[in-house]
Amino acid sequence: MLAGRRIVLGVTGGVAAYKAAYLTRRLIEHGASVRVVMTPTATRFVGEATFAALTGSDPVVEMFGGSDPSPHTTLAAWADVIVIAPATASTIAKLVSGESSNALIATVLASTAPVVIAPAMHTEMWEHAATRKNMATLQGRGYEVVPPEVGELAGGDVGVGRLADPDAIVEAVTHVVADGPLAGLAVIVTAGGTREAIDPVRFIGNRSSGKMGNAIARVAAAQGALVTLVTAADDPDVSGVVVVSVESADEMAEAVWSRLDGCDVAVMAAAVADFKPATVDPTKMKRVSGPTSIELVPTPDVLRGVHESPDRPFLVGFAAETGSLEDAAAKAKRKGVDLLVANDVASEGSGFGSDTNEVTFFYPDGTSKGMPLLDKDDVARALWKEVQTLRGMD
Ligand SMILES: Cc1cc2nc3c(=O)[nH]c(=O)nc-3n(C[C@H](O)[C@H](O)[C@H](O)COP(=O)(O)O)c2cc1C
Repeated sequence: MLAGRRIVLGVTGGVAAYKAAYLTRRLIEHGASVRVVMTPTATRFVGEATFAALTGSDPVVEMFGGSDPSPHTTLAAWADVIVIAPATASTIAKLVSGESSNALIATVLASTAPVVIAPAMHTEMWEHAATRKNMATLQGRGYEVVPPEVGELAGGDVGVGRLADPDAIVEAVTHVVADGPLAGLAVIVTAGGTREAIDPVRFIGNRSSGKMGNAIARVAAAQGALVTLVTAADDPDVSGVVVVSVESADEMAEAVWSRLDGCDVAVMAAAVADFKPATVDPTKMKRVSGPTSIELVPTPDVLRGVHESPDRPFLVGFAAETGSLEDAAAKAKRKGVDLLVANDVASEGSGFGSDTNEVTFFYPDGTSKGMPLLDKDDVARALWKEVQTLRGMD
């Protein structure tokens, strides 16, 4: 359920900070990407190197002096969810007042992501009127609270205040994520470029990497959708979605068309071959006897098949153009899609294999909306926002 989710984990200065290392590991095991932000006091309890080793990136501790001139806004924009575990009484008070004096508080204030908070402290601190009032305020703001447990505390005392079990925190995060804007939506995404066999070793292919389709699948899953990715790409960089690997246009058509029952949205981002060899040589063709030409026949039109299906879902098509996008408006009408995403694959930053894309949305009524050059993940987010708006899900 956490596959593809981007979690900012805030660690504060309490004894239980060492348990945040195990929590990081559990979140990653559940498929999440984790970045850590520590209060300066937290570094007195657990080393930055531990989180760097677990997550693959240095935790943010200081607001100034690092490679990122604005780490708190970077983290804030990146996060799907912010988790603060353990949360000290001090951090809880600062969150209430909005005292943005360290990178963690600044990140929370700069973000619109949901917040999961797991307090840990001595019983007296937890039961103090100030903490109780502060917790009530945060709950009133919609924070998901994972309350501390009863148990042995640092110093040998026994009482309420021990950090909740990391798996209970993972469960709370999963619960928050399942409430995403696409929760419960059944989605099919196609990705990659199909390969049309000439003989057992050769094929006609294209330069599609599958990155755009993968991003669309990943973001949809992160926002709560149930995603099936039908892909012709070699290594789909996704988890937490059902992956159906195919090779040819025929296989992709069959895989998609047979899964339309119950599908709410289909996003056809794959580069499907328009033609395939009329015959496939059963043995490797030899240079000496090889043909000088290959007869081609049309492949099935996957998009049209979805459009004409009695189970037709909300349909998003992709158009990879080179040069002008003029044809895309006509294509949006001709193909019967609800939304066409067109891009100029010859332009800088938008080519196959690139991590960025500059797309234009075309609507069936002939209107369009251009988007700036964005990361493919951000294009995917914009696409799903558009789908929500067009389907009246906002
Ligand atoms: C040994 C030790 C253990 C502490 N454990 C906790 C704790 O579990 N919970 C808590 O709220 N404060 C605890 N504190 C106090 C916090 O470290 C202190 O309030 C600090 O200002 C918190 O800063 P931060 O919230 O910015 O990380 C502890 C202090 C010490 C010296």
